[in-house]
Amino acid sequence: MDSRTSLPHWNPSLYDESHSFVCKRGEGLIELLSPQPGERVLDLGCGTGHLTAHIAELGATPVGIDSDPGMIEAARRYYPHLTFEVADGAAFEVSAPYDAVFSNAALHWIQPPERAAECIYRALRPGGRLVAEFGGQGNVERIRCALIAALREGGGSWDSARDPWYFPSIGQYATLLEEHGLGVRYAALFPRPTPLDGGEEGMNNWLRMFGGAYLNAVGPDRHADVIAVAREHLRPHAFHDGTWYADYRRLRIVAERAGSLP
Ligand code: BEZ
Repeated sequence: MDSRTSLPHWNPSLYDESHSFVCKRGEGLIELLSPQPGERVLDLGCGTGHLTAHIAELGATPVGIDSDPGMIEAARRYYPHLTFEVADGAAFEVSAPYDAVFSNAALHWIQPPERAAECIYRALRPGGRLVAEFGGQGNVERIRCALIAALREGGGSWDSARDPWYFPSIGQYATLLEEHGLGVRYAALFPRPTPLDGGEEGMNNWLRMFGGAYLNAVGPDRHADVIAVAREHLRPHAFHDGTWYADYRRLRIVAERAGSLP
């Protein structure tokens, strides 16, 4: 785990191979960002840098940051002409303000969210915008419940204080942003059941990649059992025609930095 933000370290190749939907879905968010030639854009939680590169193709000048050194190493390898830095999403500084902060599928991992909002505010010029999408209230609720049930059925327990994710409602997140000098211009919370790559293995892959905080409530020798039990709880709801679906609910936000903190 990352010592600063309790983020898991991911395998960049596995992430790209089995979770390419994360980037594909991010393309629509880039349309909402509508980066203009010459604009400076900070890609917060850039992962392996594919969306950062797309922003650059549209003529803007992006910088990608991510707390995972492995992801940044992969991003630099894929796109050596672009700038990527390792930085904690809840404690980063920028040397010059940006026209926009862009963030796809990352803000639910960055805690505490108040610190992330402070950093975003400081990273933006007055009038600059935040365009973000991440897991909102109810995101992966079935998956969470299945993991907790599997832990309990195996004689273990789950302490919600170990929950690694922040999935706010529109009201909670809009309030947080407003308290940190960011006026909300657009907000939507919507279901997006997401097909997982890998056929029958899709849910196993997802649980292994992202469910570490839950799996680590028991010893490594029990992980396979917890995954198998959780997967069978999910099967009636989440497996259709040979494909597993994750019950994603996305929170999409556009906000603008006011002149000064309230
Ligand atoms: C998400 O993108 O919503 C997500 C991804 C991994 C774990 C939890 C949520």
